[in-house]
Amino acid sequence: MKVHVADHPLISHKLTVLRDERTDSPTFRRLVEELVTLLAYEATRDVRTKSVVIQTPVTQTDGLKMAEPRPVVVPILRAGLGMLEGMTRLIPTAQVGFLGMVRDEKTLQATTYANRLPEDLSGRQCFVLDPMLATGGTLASAIHYLIALGATDITALCILAAPEGISFIEREFEYSSVPITIVLGALDIKLNEKGYIVPGLGDAGDRLYGVV
Ligand code: URA
Repeated sequence: MKVHVADHPLISHKLTVLRDERTDSPTFRRLVEELVTLLAYEATRDVRTKSVVIQTPVTQTDGLKMAEPRPVVVPILRAGLGMLEGMTRLIPTAQVGFLGMVRDEKTLQATTYANRLPEDLSGRQCFVLDPMLATGGTLASAIHYLIALGATDITALCILAAPEGISFIEREFEYSSVPITIVLGALDIKLNEKGYIVPGLGDAGDRLYGVV
């Protein structure tokens, strides 16, 4: 498994504003979108392409275009939805599938309550969107689900992660033949006793959409 922590002053700046408890929901949503677009740039470094020949107004030249089948972007509901716009801005032709997962706040176990994904993901590159990689339970369940549908290449984009979550995913997929990459805005210090990332940014879903 590869873990890439995006290291850029603009990402650090936006993350600092995002973490600040005084940042309101509209600003939080806009910052998440901007951050995801920056993370997506890193995450799509190995997106599949094909060679093409095109005619410019001046001459014929070789170029690269995204290969078919197009990648599948999978936001994990609810908080991953806030990352979708930023991702599709960079890959507008990607197919989008949805996975609804909820974490029990006591046991921290993730369960699937909804899914809207292609039935067959054979040979597809998948980009999973989940802003907070905390215990790793939700992301691990999502990755298992995608592998079971045939996904052959999975990249997760997370705004923040805890070391505990990264270790969990590493152990869970140690023997998996499917390449897994995690692209992060920052690797934080730890999880607290309630399963929150420290220093973190609080509950990403609540901060994106308000408490429901
Ligand atoms: N989910 C969140 O929204 N925040 C955390 O800190 C951990 C999990």
